[in-house]
Amino acid sequence: AVNYTQAIRGQFFDIAKVGASPEALKANARHLDDGLLFLNGGTIAALLPWEEGRGLLRHETDYLDSRDKLILPGFVDTHLHYPQTEMIGAYGEQLLEWLETYTFPVESQYQCRDHAARMSAFFLSQLLSNGTTTALVFGTVHPQSVDALFSAAEHVGMRMIAGKVMMDRNAPEYLTETPEQSYRQTRELILRWHKRGRLNYALTPRFAPTSSPELLAAVQKLREEFPDTWVHTHLSENSSEVDWVKALWPEHASYLGVYHHYNLTGKRSVFAHGIHLQECEWDCLHETDSSLAFCPTSNLFLGSGLFNLKQCQHKQVRMGIGTDVGAGTTFNMLQTLAEAYKVAQLQSYRLSACEAFYHATLGGAHALDLDGKIGNFQTGKEADFVILDPVVTPLQKLRYASSRDIYEKLFILMTLGDDRNIWQTWIDGKCAWQRDALEVAA
Ligand code: GUN
Ligand code: ZN
Repeated sequence: AVNYTQAIRGQFFDIAKVGASPEALKANARHLDDGLLFLNGGTIAALLPWEEGRGLLRHETDYLDSRDKLILPGFVDTHLHYPQTEMIGAYGEQLLEWLETYTFPVESQYQCRDHAARMSAFFLSQLLSNGTTTALVFGTVHPQSVDALFSAAEHVGMRMIAGKVMMDRNAPEYLTETPEQSYRQTRELILRWHKRGRLNYALTPRFAPTSSPELLAAVQKLREEFPDTWVHTHLSENSSEVDWVKALWPEHASYLGVYHHYNLTGKRSVFAHGIHLQECEWDCLHETDSSLAFCPTSNLFLGSGLFNLKQCQHKQVRMGIGTDVGAGTTFNMLQTLAEAYKVAQLQSYRLSACEAFYHATLGGAHALDLDGKIGNFQTGKEADFVILDPVVTPLQKLRYASSRDIYEKLFILMTLGDDRNIWQTWIDGKCAWQRDALEVAA
């Protein structure tokens, strides 16, 4: 018998185990054409083939029928900025000019609590309507930006990691603080929010160029005081940025070396981008068990460069996918995977659908050190998942009809899919979002 509160019948796909090679991932993939998922409140009780599961139902019809849908673990977005939601698609600049011209002025608005609360609600509805159930999120330098975001996430019951930006130089005065202020305000936020329900705190120095040695020392002190918090920052995204770090921190041999010097590498340290890394930096990421966030739409939009997936795999560095909104151009993980595929194509690496969906789910969870809690349908894990409608346009209908197996179906979904394919998003065993019905012509 299974102790359950709800059951859902449909087509399921997940990856049973964390792995490095595409072959290992495929060997651990699970596809149920007709499966039955049992939930016990907010927990996965079991996922079984229909024929095995049906006898465990209290009544033959005691399930939600989603047989025409595909059910996946919820998407994990390992890097994005909620205050940049309102500036997606800012024209014409690469990273450093883009920050000066567009980003800093927009972030200044988060001093206003009401603005932060309104945008937090909007941001969360964007995550949910795109099937994203967990995210690692940048706030702004203002503590109230993080209070607003965590309050909204708590209301939804979402597993989320976030933090206040820390920065004390090379940014407008209205967005900078002293290292002491940064330390004190961050500490208060940790005490208020870290490990409250499903919320967790990430120490969030923006990046090395906006940090003085004193600021990074303050981050180090906080990490020593609160060793189970996360560290979330940017690394080696753009070549002018890399040159600038070299000029600002001449005593360090590499960009990552700056963070490493302050003990900010390690498990639960997530570095966004990592495009222009030296060999020794890859080795350091591996040896310290640090993670990278691969953000394809952002890297292409800002012209930053191509993330080296093959090297990441070869060096066995933890990696998850990030949308990096608002340098990234979508909240949608399907569209983000399509761009990841193209980034790989340009480097003669073939990103399979199996590997791509792994990175978007269990792999992302692993990069955030949350794979014990989320990322697949393993019994005992938290019930966060997304119910996809694989066919919502005439073109998808045409193409889907000729698909032969689950991998071709998934690949079509990531190539042609978008938010219209997200039918329902479930958080903590409850449907937290549902799309309106769509008519598919033809
Ligand atoms: N590097 C430092 N700050 C940022 C930011 O806001 N976005 C991106 N993409 N890179 C950064
Ligand atoms: Zn970013």
